[in-house]
Amino acid sequence: MLKSFYIETFGCQMNVHDSEKVAGTLLNSGYRQVDNADDADLVLYNTCSIREKAAQKVFSRLGQFRKGRGEGKQFAVIGCVAQQEGEKIFEAAPHVNLVAGSASYSRFSELLAQLESGQRRVTGLSLDTDQTFDTEFTKRGHPFRAYITIIEGCDKHCAYCVVPFTRGPERSRTAASVLAEARRLADAGYTEIQLLGQNVNSYRDPSPAAVSFAGLLSQVAEVPGIRRVRFTTSHPRDFRREIVEAIDSHPALCDHIHLPVQSGSSSVLERMLRDYTRQEYMERIGWIRQARRPISISTDIIVGFPGETEAEFAETLSLLDEVGYDSIFSFQYSPRPNTSALRMEDAIPDEEKGRRLRVLQQHQREIQWQRNAALVGTLQEVLVEGRNTRGNRSLNRDGCDEHSCNEQWKGRTSQNMMLNFTVPASLEHAVAAGEYCNVRVSKAGPNSLVGEAV
Ligand code: SAH
Ligand code: SF4
Ligand code: F3S
Repeated sequence: MLKSFYIETFGCQMNVHDSEKVAGTLLNSGYRQVDNADDADLVLYNTCSIREKAAQKVFSRLGQFRKGRGEGKQFAVIGCVAQQEGEKIFEAAPHVNLVAGSASYSRFSELLAQLESGQRRVTGLSLDTDQTFDTEFTKRGHPFRAYITIIEGCDKHCAYCVVPFTRGPERSRTAASVLAEARRLADAGYTEIQLLGQNVNSYRDPSPAAVSFAGLLSQVAEVPGIRRVRFTTSHPRDFRREIVEAIDSHPALCDHIHLPVQSGSSSVLERMLRDYTRQEYMERIGWIRQARRPISISTDIIVGFPGETEAEFAETLSLLDEVGYDSIFSFQYSPRPNTSALRMEDAIPDEEKGRRLRVLQQHQREIQWQRNAALVGTLQEVLVEGRNTRGNRSLNRDGCDEHSCNEQWKGRTSQNMMLNFTVPASLEHAVAAGEYCNVRVSKAGPNSLVGEAV
């Protein structure tokens, strides 16, 4: 009987893709994948440490296997909590056998061999690397959208953030290897590619060709068979006008840019060590707004950073109006180990952080409602994701509440909006998951659109 493994992933898309590569490596080493921890010989948790709540999850998972229930199993904690906590994890959860951070995955087979030879505690915790995790063994979790990590790690050291400590220094793959992978994916039938990096636009081709990030975007967009290219996350400091020019000249580059601002106040940005001011950020938004196609813009915001005054918070609200974001991810500041903000005074009480978050989200909800309403009547090309079932509320955040809920299908527009749509009988043969089709928008809610295929 083959050994079996179960892997659960927390955190960002880079983690999702790392898990695909780790799973591929395990399958190639003769393991089979199961979808339930109870059935697995080896249980892996690929963890996230970005906020305290995320980091705690792995310990509650591990806790379920104390006192006998984990008998005969091996446990691996990998990813950002593994890197951050290191060998302390063995003390907190003595049934864990492997602790490894993402900078060690390029030697994952070696770590696995140590585990199989009966070594009780195996670690991969060095951050001293210039390697990226390239492997031909990737167990892709999606049939038509594929991830390619082009740059790993982060050198920016924002005052609140653990990523430089959990993922090590910035290192990029060669443009040639990224392109070769994009071509292989296109040959395998993938039509959408998402280029990933903690700061994807800080990409620096290490080969003599020295292809710029905008150059790489253009080259991937030109790969035959690739219809959509997305990239995330862009850092404002390294955001160049050439990126917008590349989108302008390549229809395959999606009309969406995720550009985390974190705060609308230059003084807070300075304390966060973000390396740009509100004015500099707005200059970049100006470039995006001058593009020939309308490009949607999303962002990340932290409320309640130490010392954030009511006036500084109000600047974040006014930035939402000034930019007109199509969506935001917003978080209460969470103090994290090793970060420089940990030593800052004037912590904002939790209730106040919660209040600011609610105010911010309500403010944005109204902006989104208005922006989406302006799309009613337009024709949008969607990549069909699948059937839209009534119970599936996670994929249809507000559609069920606001609309009649008889939409049969859901898909994403180039601008990354969810569109729920009906299909007239005459077109039913043409609509299936993974296909592209045109949809006329008929209604709009704050988080999604409704329409009919034409
Ligand atoms: N590299 C990206 C962000 C990666 S982390 C960038 O610089 O924009 C994803 C998001 O998590 C961040 O944009 C930030 O909004 C949030 N985040 C990071 N550390 C946090 C913390 N300590 N507390 C709350 N939110 C945090
Ligand atoms: Fe974290 Fe800042 Fe690096 Fe983004 S740029 S991953 S927020 S340290
Ligand atoms: Fe979390 Fe690590 Fe990603 S901390 S957000 S999994 S880089």
